[in-house]
Amino acid sequence: MQDFITRLPKAELHLHIEGSLEPELMFALAERNGVALPYASIEAVREAYQFDDLQSFLVLYYQGMSVLRTAEDFFDLAMDYFRRASAEGVVHVELHFDPQAHLARGIELGVVIEGLARACRLASRELDLSSALIMAFLRDRPADEAMQVLERAAPYWEMLDAIGLDSAEHGHPPQKFVEVFERARALGIARVAHAGEEGPAAYIAQALDLLDVCRIDHGVRCLEDPALVERLRALRMPLTVCPLSNVKLKVVERIDDHPLPQLLEAGLLLTINSDDPAYFGGGMRDNFLACQRAFGWSEATLLGLARNAIEVAFMDPARRSELLVRLESMA
Ligand code: HPA
Ligand code: ZN
Repeated sequence: MQDFITRLPKAELHLHIEGSLEPELMFALAERNGVALPYASIEAVREAYQFDDLQSFLVLYYQGMSVLRTAEDFFDLAMDYFRRASAEGVVHVELHFDPQAHLARGIELGVVIEGLARACRLASRELDLSSALIMAFLRDRPADEAMQVLERAAPYWEMLDAIGLDSAEHGHPPQKFVEVFERARALGIARVAHAGEEGPAAYIAQALDLLDVCRIDHGVRCLEDPALVERLRALRMPLTVCPLSNVKLKVVERIDDHPLPQLLEAGLLLTINSDDPAYFGGGMRDNFLACQRAFGWSEATLLGLARNAIEVAFMDPARRSELLVRLESMA
């Protein structure tokens, strides 16, 4: 089964590239840039990764990214992840990035996007790994600021596959970002949003009603509202579920308690993702494997989940066909 999961062509639709920063690279970049880290060693970094909730993770996540300063750093960050992901059978990665977290440290948008985009081009050539860029807004920052970032991104609009919404969910409903998402829609940029990770099912409904998203990131709390579940099913709205993230941030206590079996039973369009693999204890292979072990999933179930991701990914039709052929050859 482990071998089957590794060979399965996996598309990852929910990854925060800053959350793929492994402690080894964090130390190397800290040295290169003369940034002081509050950790004595690589082991100490890993030991610090014990979280009580989303907020306790976000503190270390924003602190960790302080080592990223130049386009080269963002290039190295993404290439480091692409190589690891490719080695575990990931064929396509959609990366969220958080421009506000970098702008706040004086790092220009162009530095971030050009570094990431260069890695995306090299990964396509060297690793046969396709990718998409999702510029995410921090929902715990003012909506005005998000709007300014969207406008400032004008030279890069063509390079963005979507905008997203992440960071602390409690008290920051989708409603707060109606105008920003409306502007993106007018620009022809697709929209996704985190909703129903820690926040209530009502935030998922708001993301659909007010932000016109084509995908819900996480969405696991939809089960609290049966009418919403039916709506998500009828719409074939993709949910990008992140099982190990949910355990690590205590959305669920143990992987065995994860609602994935109920979500599947409800007929929802689900995908499996790693979210912040450097912080949550595993990449795509580990997420698939943990679920397979916990729920006894068959090869057919695993194929179905991998197929969902390829079908709804931001990728060109030729690439989608190629990956679907590769996937079906395993069935
Ligand atoms: N949830 C919300 N915001 C985030 C996350 C997450 O899991 N990771 C990085 N930003
Ligand atoms: Zn996320």
